[in-house]
Amino acid sequence: MYSTDHLDIPPLVSAGGTVQLPGSKSISNRVLLLAALSTGHTDITDLLDSDDTQVMLQALSTLGCRVEQRPDGVVRVHGLGGNLPVKTAALFLGNAGTAMRPLTAALAVLACQHGGRFDLSGVARMHERPIGDLVDALRQLGCPITYTLNEGYPPLCLGTGEPTELSIDDAPIQIRGDVSSQFLTALLLALPLAARSRDIHIDVVGELISRPYIEITLNLMRRFGIDVKRDEWKRFTIAAGSQYRSPGRIPVEGDASSASYFIALGAIAPCSPGCDGITIKGVGLASIQGDIRFIEAARLMGADISGDDSALHIRRGAWPLKAIDLDCNHIPDAAMTLAVMALYADGPSTLRNIASWRVKETDRIVAMATECRKLGAMVEEGPDFIRITPPATPSAWSSASIHTYDDHRVAMCFSLAAFNPAGLPVRIEDPKCVGKTFPDYFETLFEVCQTPPANIPVICIDGPTASGKGTLAAALARRLGYHLLDSGALYRLVGLAAERAGLATDDAALRSQDQTDRLGELASSMQVRFTGEHILLDGEDVTEALRSEAAGMAASRVSAVPQVRSALLGLQHDFRKLPGLVADGRDMGTVVFPDAALKVFLTASAGQRALRRHKQLISKGFAVSIDDLLADLIRRDERDSSRSHAPLKSAEDALQLDNSGLSIEQSIEQMLIWWQDKTAFSKV
Ligand code: DC
Repeated sequence: MYSTDHLDIPPLVSAGGTVQLPGSKSISNRVLLLAALSTGHTDITDLLDSDDTQVMLQALSTLGCRVEQRPDGVVRVHGLGGNLPVKTAALFLGNAGTAMRPLTAALAVLACQHGGRFDLSGVARMHERPIGDLVDALRQLGCPITYTLNEGYPPLCLGTGEPTELSIDDAPIQIRGDVSSQFLTALLLALPLAARSRDIHIDVVGELISRPYIEITLNLMRRFGIDVKRDEWKRFTIAAGSQYRSPGRIPVEGDASSASYFIALGAIAPCSPGCDGITIKGVGLASIQGDIRFIEAARLMGADISGDDSALHIRRGAWPLKAIDLDCNHIPDAAMTLAVMALYADGPSTLRNIASWRVKETDRIVAMATECRKLGAMVEEGPDFIRITPPATPSAWSSASIHTYDDHRVAMCFSLAAFNPAGLPVRIEDPKCVGKTFPDYFETLFEVCQTPPANIPVICIDGPTASGKGTLAAALARRLGYHLLDSGALYRLVGLAAERAGLATDDAALRSQDQTDRLGELASSMQVRFTGEHILLDGEDVTEALRSEAAGMAASRVSAVPQVRSALLGLQHDFRKLPGLVADGRDMGTVVFPDAALKVFLTASAGQRALRRHKQLISKGFAVSIDDLLADLIRRDERDSSRSHAPLKSAEDALQLDNSGLSIEQSIEQMLIWWQDKTAFSKV
C-alpha cells in the first residue's frame, strides 16, 4: 500500500494482463457478523483484508468472539450462538458503515436480551452519516438507544446494562428504505436473534434504494440457515424459531465494485502489445453482488465484456466511449467509475438517482464534480444527479492534484484519468485511503498498465563514496512511493560473484581481455533478486556481505571494466517501472538515465564522509580507524573518477548538493522542493 502524502501517476498509454481481485467488502463484513452470530464455527476463505474488515474483526474480538487466522489464509470464526460473553464495551468503528449499521442492530437486540450496554463511535465523518431511521426501527422493538452527541447520528449508546423485554407483536417494524439500504440490511441481520416465538415482519417505507445490496444480505442469510420471506420489496418476514447455523465453510467473492475500475480500464486503455485486454479473476457474471451490473453500464458506453462464473474479460470496444444517460440507483458505488469513464465519452453523460452519494464516505456528488472540473470537464450537479461534459479537446485537459476526501473510491476512480489524451500525469492525494477496501489497488493497477520509459520519472543521485546517496535515495523513494535502484549494489554483486567464482579482479587481471570478457559474462548471467530490504545472489541472502569495505573495493575495481558496465545496463533500465524511480550511483545521470527529470550530484567533504562511514561501521560492530577509512575513500574516489569508462562526475544538468552541514531530513526536504518544481503539479 502507498502510505505517501501523494502518488503521482505518470501518463499511461495501454493496459493488458490479469488482475486478481480482493474479496468483497460487503460480503466480508456480512459474513463475519453472521459467523459470529451463528452456532458452530465458520471457515471463511478469501476474506478481504482491509481497514473496514479490520474494524469488524476488532469489534467482534472485543465482544468476546474468537477469531483465528489460520496458516492457509482461512479465517475461522467461533460463533457465539446468540450468547454475549462481553456485556459492556466501547467499540470504535472508524468510517465503516458496513460495521456501524449491522452492529448497531445486532447489539441493540443482544443488549436487551442479555442486559448489555455498548458505546459505538467512529471517525468524525461517521458522526455525520445518518442512522436515525435504523434507531427509530429498533426503538419500535423496545430497544433503549441514546444519541450521545447529535440526534440522528452516531455515536450511540445501546442498552442500559439491564435486560429489557423486546416488544414483538404482529405489528410490522417500519424502516425507511430511501436513505441507505444498510438500515434494512442491519435489521434483517439482527432480527433472527429476536424471532424466538413469533414471526417478525418488516415493512419498508418509501422506495427501497440499492436493492442489490439487500439481495446480498438475503442470499448470505440463506447460507447461514435463515430464509427470509419477501413480498415484493415492501415486506420481509423472519419466521419464529429462526436460528443462525454455520454453513461450515464459505468463500468470499472478489469485490464487484473494485472490479469496476479494471472493467473501466479495459474499456479505456488500448491493448498493450502482446496482450488481449484485461482479465479479472475472483468475480464473474454469476456474482451475487449488485455492482456486477456495472457491466451493463460499461457495455452501454462501449466496453467489450465477456466472462464466465468466476472471471471477466474486457477489451476496448467503441472509442471514444459513448455518452450515457442512466439511472444508477442499482449500482451506487460502481457508478462513480462511470463518472470517470464519462471523461472519455463523445458527449455529456448524466448519472441519475444517486442521492445516496451524498451520505457516503464523503458527499460524493460534490467530490466527483469538483475533481472532474479540475481535470477540465464541465460538470452540472443536482440533488440526485451529476452531468459530466468531457474536456472538448486534448488540450482542454489539465494536470490535476486529486483531493480524495478520505474516500477510497474517489482515489481509485481518478487513477483512470492518467489515460488522458493530453499525456498528463495525475496526482492522487492521500493514496492510502484505498486501504478501506483495496489496499494494493495502485500496485495492481501498475502491474497491468504500460507507458513508454520516457514517461516514467527518474530521479538520479550521483556522488562519491559515503556521500549519503544511499540513505537519501531510499528516503526519497519512500516519500514518493517510487522504486529504488542502488546501482552500487550491482557492482558489489559482481565483485562478490567474481570472488565466489574464483575470478581475480586485481589490476593485473583486469588488463587481460579474456578476464574482462569473463567478468562481463558473469555480470550478465548472475541471478540477482531484490526483495524489499534484501538482496539475493543465486538464491543466497548476501545483503550483509555486500556492505563490507572489501566488497566496496572489489566493486570499484570491476566497475572499471566496460563489459561489466554494459552487462549491467539492461538490468538497471529494468528498474524504471511505474510509478517512478530513484536511482543512486556514479553514472546514473550521465550514462544510465541521461533523460532523468532531476539529477543531483551529492557531495560532502572527505573528512565528513569518513566520519559518517566510521559511525556506521562502529554501530555494526566493525572496528576500523578513521584514518584508514579516509585513505580508502580517497583511493576509491580517485579510481572511480579517473577510469576511462563512465567515470564519476557530475552530469552537466545536475544540481549540486553539498550535504556536509545538512541533516538527512534537511537534504530530503531540499530534494523534495527541487522535485516538486520539476513536476506538472508545481503549477496547479
Ligand atoms: O555506491 P557504492 O559504494 O555501493 O558503490 C560501489 C562501487 O561501485 C563504487 O566504488 C563504484 C562502483 N559504482 C559505479 O561504478 N557506478 C555506479 N553507478 C555505482 C557504483
